[in-house]
Amino acid sequence: MIQLIPVMDIRTYPNAPALMDAAAADFVAVAAAAIAERGRCLVALSGGSTPRGMYQRLAALGPGTLDWSRVTVLWSDERSVPPDHAESNYRMAQETLLAPLQIPAAQVYRMRGEDEDIEAAARAYERTLGALTGVQPGHGVPQLDLVLLGLGADGHTASLFGDTVALDVRDRWVVRNYVAKFTTSRLTLTFPVILAAREIRVLVAGADKANTLAAVLAGDWDPDRLPAQRLAHATGRVVWLVDQAAAAPLQARADG
Ligand code: 6PG
Repeated sequence: MIQLIPVMDIRTYPNAPALMDAAAADFVAVAAAAIAERGRCLVALSGGSTPRGMYQRLAALGPGTLDWSRVTVLWSDERSVPPDHAESNYRMAQETLLAPLQIPAAQVYRMRGEDEDIEAAARAYERTLGALTGVQPGHGVPQLDLVLLGLGADGHTASLFGDTVALDVRDRWVVRNYVAKFTTSRLTLTFPVILAAREIRVLVAGADKANTLAAVLAGDWDPDRLPAQRLAHATGRVVWLVDQAAAAPLQARADG
């Protein structure tokens, strides 16, 4: 039997601003291709400082760069806060990207992190995904065109943190995930939805991520501690956009 060994697509940039510029250009290319092929682009945004910089650059490119009327905006995760809270992933994207480009609210589907019943909010988001994709919860997995992710220094991605119950969920698309170290729950897409996306982009910048990135991409298989390792099981294309500071130990391994 021929075993196909996946080749990782890791793109390295001299610094975080260069990474963010490249990620914004890549977003436009991926979304335009999705629109050309399928008439729309379903994208899940993420929180975090690196995505923030990318959204600012995307907004600076202006509304004419892409047919934004065909882009549907979702989220990969959300904190348990109201949409106007400083920690809201929705608010971050709204301020940096959606408001500047005047994306109509009808194209934007946020996770309701402020709801007291977070579990019900997760179920509601599953219904949203189902309505947008025509797949019903319990009957297959919705396929998003693009999922943007970050990498935490602890190896988490989206709000899939190490040793949390959400990691092994197979029969749900969106769940409430209790994160003990923050003593709070978050809403997050599950791995089945993330791994089914046509395109995944992981944005990683900074020396504080360097050892984790090396462990995730080139270390021992330990996906309960390093959830981002599970991206190796994606069915679509995964591209890691990394700045030099984060890539250094990985490159040292490759060179040594
Ligand atoms: C969030 C995220 C999370 C984030 C990483 C990286 O809501 O915090 O979606 O997964 O992308 O923690 O964040 P930074 O880029 O800020 O390090």
